[in-house]
Amino acid sequence: MYMRKRMIYLLSKRIPMKRNHLYCGLILAMLGVQISASAQKQIDIQTSHSGLVFTVAPNNKLYQSYLGKNIQPATVRTANATAREAYAQGGGSFLFQPAIRMVHTDGSASLDLRVAEYHTTRVNDNNSVTRIVLKDSVYPVTVQLFLSSFYKEDVIKSWAVISHKEKKPVRITNFASSMLNLHADSYWLTQFHGDWAEEMHEEDSKLTSGMKVIDSKLGSRANMYQTPAFLLSLNGPSTETEGELVAGTLAWSGNFQFVFEVDEKNQLNVLSGINPYASDYQLEPNTDFTTPEFIFTYSAKGRGQASRNLHNWARNHGVLNGKGSRYTLLNNWEATQFDFDEQKLSGLFDEARLLGTDLFLLDDGWFANKYPRNDDHAGLGDWQENKKKLPSGLGHLVKEATAKGVKFGIWLEPEMLNPKSELYEKHPNWVLKLQNRPEDYFRNQLVLDIINPEVSEFVYKMVDDMLTKNPGIAYIKWDCNRMMTNAGSPYLGEKQSNLYIDYVRSLYAILDRLRKKYPELPMMLCSGGGGRTDYGGLKYFTEFWPSDNTDPYDRIFIQWGYSYFFPANTIACHVTSWGKQSLKFRTDVAMMGRLGYDIDVARMPENDLKFSQQAVASYKNLSAVIGQGDQYRLVNPNQQQRAAVMYVDSNKSKAVLFAYTLQPRYSTNWTPVKLQGLEAAKLYMVKEINLYPGTQASLPEHNKQYTGEYLMNVGLQVSSANPLTSTVVEITAAP
Ligand code: DGJ
Repeated sequence: MYMRKRMIYLLSKRIPMKRNHLYCGLILAMLGVQISASAQKQIDIQTSHSGLVFTVAPNNKLYQSYLGKNIQPATVRTANATAREAYAQGGGSFLFQPAIRMVHTDGSASLDLRVAEYHTTRVNDNNSVTRIVLKDSVYPVTVQLFLSSFYKEDVIKSWAVISHKEKKPVRITNFASSMLNLHADSYWLTQFHGDWAEEMHEEDSKLTSGMKVIDSKLGSRANMYQTPAFLLSLNGPSTETEGELVAGTLAWSGNFQFVFEVDEKNQLNVLSGINPYASDYQLEPNTDFTTPEFIFTYSAKGRGQASRNLHNWARNHGVLNGKGSRYTLLNNWEATQFDFDEQKLSGLFDEARLLGTDLFLLDDGWFANKYPRNDDHAGLGDWQENKKKLPSGLGHLVKEATAKGVKFGIWLEPEMLNPKSELYEKHPNWVLKLQNRPEDYFRNQLVLDIINPEVSEFVYKMVDDMLTKNPGIAYIKWDCNRMMTNAGSPYLGEKQSNLYIDYVRSLYAILDRLRKKYPELPMMLCSGGGGRTDYGGLKYFTEFWPSDNTDPYDRIFIQWGYSYFFPANTIACHVTSWGKQSLKFRTDVAMMGRLGYDIDVARMPENDLKFSQQAVASYKNLSAVIGQGDQYRLVNPNQQQRAAVMYVDSNKSKAVLFAYTLQPRYSTNWTPVKLQGLEAAKLYMVKEINLYPGTQASLPEHNKQYTGEYLMNVGLQVSSANPLTSTVVEITAAP
């Protein structure tokens, strides 16, 4: 009996695979059971340059034995001394932060998961999905781990599905999407944080023993302080072109949590998933709890490669219409705020046309009558055209814009309501609020309780009715201007701790329904700036609004940060009046994403207009390279008082380079910027574009030809000595 207990203890203890195997072989031998090394089974997940390997031990426990460069599976089999339990469970012998913890109906808070089966399905030449089924040794609990690998993009998605057959609901208190084990000499974390208008501060730190947690508890507008994405460099900080790293992001538009835990042996566990904070989840029997996807890539060639992997994956699989083109647009928010009427809008349609943009986007302020939306105090929730501002209705606007040769898009904030609204008067219980405590407002508004099916039906119908009545609407900006505070769901009753999770699921259910009916409609994911920047949302959206801060100086940093994880065609960038820089500088920065304008075009001096028209036209020519091409971050604004980024198309025949001088304090002996991603043997014509009327190209290499080899080894003298100046260079392979 003692022997049996000792064996179970040793088998389940968190010990290195080799030792574990040795012990268990020894003990089983003592018990008269023969077991050989070959009884270990290996699960290989491979992409073109990376590999993730799991081992199923003879006791059917699951270990992660490798994550790194793609090497021969056989090599891993003998190199698994550092294997760690995969998807470790709380309540047993695992002594660190668990991936999963469950409180059973009998009150026991333990799990002991063993591999029951596993199988890899080849979805197509590029994508395989491995499903590992784990079952508890005593309780009727099943956890399925899924790993979907994208071979050519070098990206893996990981998620879990948790279910049980106990008699009553169980409580799950931890539910990671992924648990990765890494073993390196040192770990360097790059995280991204900020606030409204100052999103994506990039911060690097060395991980030390213990836990580092990055999370959000904001519910909606969840990423206002922290972005659900990180870079994790191994054995030293990575650069754009060198070093080993994992870049990961969670596809979830709600509370998220990343835990980085360095243990006593200097091994690192990385847990990624929904934030368990205030979210003990009551899971009904025979119901699946599906975690969001954690999307990650491993690169042995620095950050640039990791980003290009994620960009490729996003365009091919992660973002709605990722391979499609985007509309250039004129938005009226900055120029008019809430103050407009039909006549003014009609003038703006002309301006959109004059600029050459594809679409006009009508922002906040077009709706509500009893409590008109003339500022942010009233009207949210009453989605009828305001009769004073728009007496002829949306249909008329769509028609007029179309007649003037521009498409029409519209702003909505479907999940919210002002207490000063007819909707609230009718349904005071449709909002998230705590019983017995005062309502807590942010931007004078409350969050709708879309977990309540009646409310989610209202939201769906509002959008659907608008699109049915006005089939000409060509674009939606879906905003979300507050986080949750004092949040309780009148609908959820006793299950309040399901709120944060069920809210996001209800939101996705609404978006799912809308996407079934309107699969193509371009939509911008906006959340008071960059409050929603994640691939969970981007399944339904074509682009996101990274920040209300459109000062181009700040935007260089903000867009740089997002570019680690998101391709340029998903990042909406508008030329506005923020910042004191020249129109050229503002425009050049906005051209590095999906170009738009939010500026008073009527007041533009003639040359500004001429310049902008040319810029829109060149952007249209180059947007395929910028949006679909490979991105190379060449000079980091966090390291020098200048920045340079370039985009190269897939056959290396066209490239665009953006270079900025920031605010150098001393004399600038800038070195030439070496290009990347070109073909060494090709001859390229170098041309400075986006020149303001009346100015000459300042690039010494303008209108000359160079080989790719020259451009990548000698470079271009694109950086000027003058603060806040910019250069855009078009690089075209000779035919
Ligand atoms: C916040 C958004 O980020 C802005 O662009 C604008 O749409 C306002 N909301 C409107 O209320």
